[in-house]
Amino acid sequence: MQLRINGELREVDADGDTPLLWVLRDDLGMTGTKYGCGLAQCGACSVMVDGTVTRSCVTPVDSVVDSAITTIEAIEQDETGKQVVEAWVRHQVPQCGYCQSGQVMAATALLKENSAPSLDDVRDAMVNLCRCGTYNAIHAAMLDLAGIDDTVNEADSGGVLISDYSTTAIVAGAAVAGGAAVAGAALYQRSKKAKTASQQDSHPEDESA
Ligand code: FES
Ligand code: FES
Repeated sequence: MQLRINGELREVDADGDTPLLWVLRDDLGMTGTKYGCGLAQCGACSVMVDGTVTRSCVTPVDSVVDSAITTIEAIEQDETGKQVVEAWVRHQVPQCGYCQSGQVMAATALLKENSAPSLDDVRDAMVNLCRCGTYNAIHAAMLDLAGIDDTVNEADSGGVLISDYSTTAIVAGAAVAGGAAVAGAALYQRSKKAKTASQQDSHPEDESA
């Protein structure tokens, strides 16, 4: 069968029910699209099919034979995709980078549909998972692309900057962990004392030694 990928017709020899992701990565060597969960949950495998962001890990290849498939390899040939990549660089979004092909595809698809999304629109549409937790940076890049002043969100979020959420969570987590460590140490010391006392009780002759 033939697939139109990034504007080119590619000959593919695969069973019709083979996931598009396998064809891209294993048959065509286009490894920019990533495998995450294989269950349509994480979004790492996102590509665009006729302009719609699509999870290629659960898309049978025979269902996209007549479609235009766009992958991360060609995203900068698209003006919106190019702007997304530039904003991602400007805001230093990627950390390990594994999820970012899918994030860029989702961002590009959203901006093509709605060139000025609100933060709520971004949150609703950008649901791909990121193990590194780059969500704040993604939101900042998207608001930049939408031409929204990020300080507006300070008021929206009750005076707490979006980027402060992670810091707050880390501080809270550290306080809980610290408290647990202190409590654990106190319990350990108490049980040690109790053990010593009970050993002394059971060996009274030791006291005379
Ligand atoms: S690999 Fe496709 S959604 Fe996770
Ligand atoms: S940047 Fe590491 S998983 Fe998203």
